Amino acid sequence: MEQLVHGGDWAGYRAQFGRDALDFSANVSPLGLPEGVAKAITAALPTADRYPDPLCRELRAKLALHEGVPADHILCGNGAADLIFRLVWARKPRRALVTAPTFAEYAAALETIGCTVERFILQAADDFAVPEAFLSAIDDRVDLVFLCQPNNPTGQLTPPDFVARILQRCTACGALLVLDECFLDFLPDHAQLTAKPLLGSGDLLILKAFTKLYALREKVHQLNSPDLNYVWRFMQSSDHFYYMATKWFSDGDVHSYFNPYGSPYEAFVNYMNVLSDFEIQIQRRLEAYQNKQAVPA
Ligand SMILES: Cc1ncc(COP(=O)(O)O)c(C=O)c1O
Repeated sequence: MEQLVHGGDWAGYRAQFGRDALDFSANVSPLGLPEGVAKAITAALPTADRYPDPLCRELRAKLALHEGVPADHILCGNGAADLIFRLVWARKPRRALVTAPTFAEYAAALETIGCTVERFILQAADDFAVPEAFLSAIDDRVDLVFLCQPNNPTGQLTPPDFVARILQRCTACGALLVLDECFLDFLPDHAQLTAKPLLGSGDLLILKAFTKLYALREKVHQLNSPDLNYVWRFMQSSDHFYYMATKWFSDGDVHSYFNPYGSPYEAFVNYMNVLSDFEIQIQRRLEAYQNKQAVPA
């Protein structure tokens, strides 16, 4: 088995131990591939022998509508990690600032071009939040700042007014601010928290990814039943993901003191049981709903 920077070596584990591991190493939706995505892939198969439009015109036009930003401000990549590397290679910063801990690929990308990576150490005493002092770590020598919003792996969110001040500081120092909002949409009030309104007011780039909790969303919305909506919201609360993460196990994470589970494995098994029960309920209700719709008046 290899030690990989991003994601676990599930194939190496299978080859070595002859079975599959419970993989907590990647922050991907536990709900599987959304039905709509599976249908779109199937529909696109007849043209899979050709390169897609390299400029992603149709995709960017749809994303522009969804995100409320102009299509020519959007660049699509093969995952957000691909864009992180491409951005670093295009911009070639000599010195960059990241928080520690944060998503490992920022430093991995920066190191490929010999960039000096300054790590701003987040403190347990601050609950790993980004403090005011982060502003003074941005100076004229810094060309690029990565900020993860909310931060992976701490889950800490930097308040939007503080993000605005960080952007001002970056702009004054000639640094590009790369705000990673890949997991912001997990938060119910993400529309108020996004830095999109700041686009155009400084040197700002926002990263987004599809690795989100969307598999059941359309069905839950279609049913629009108060009890299902309640469970749906409850299941998306970040606490479950803290309990399932193996990290707190080794370093005594802040959430461990109110964690009801003995181990992340116990939390995972429980979450998966609740999830499959919820999926069954959704399916039953959906069938009943569709049968009712089909009955002529
Ligand atoms: C904070 C953060 N940003 C970006 C990514 C990369 O996203 P993608 O899977 O689209 O490459 C990850 C993946 O774990 C992540 O945790």
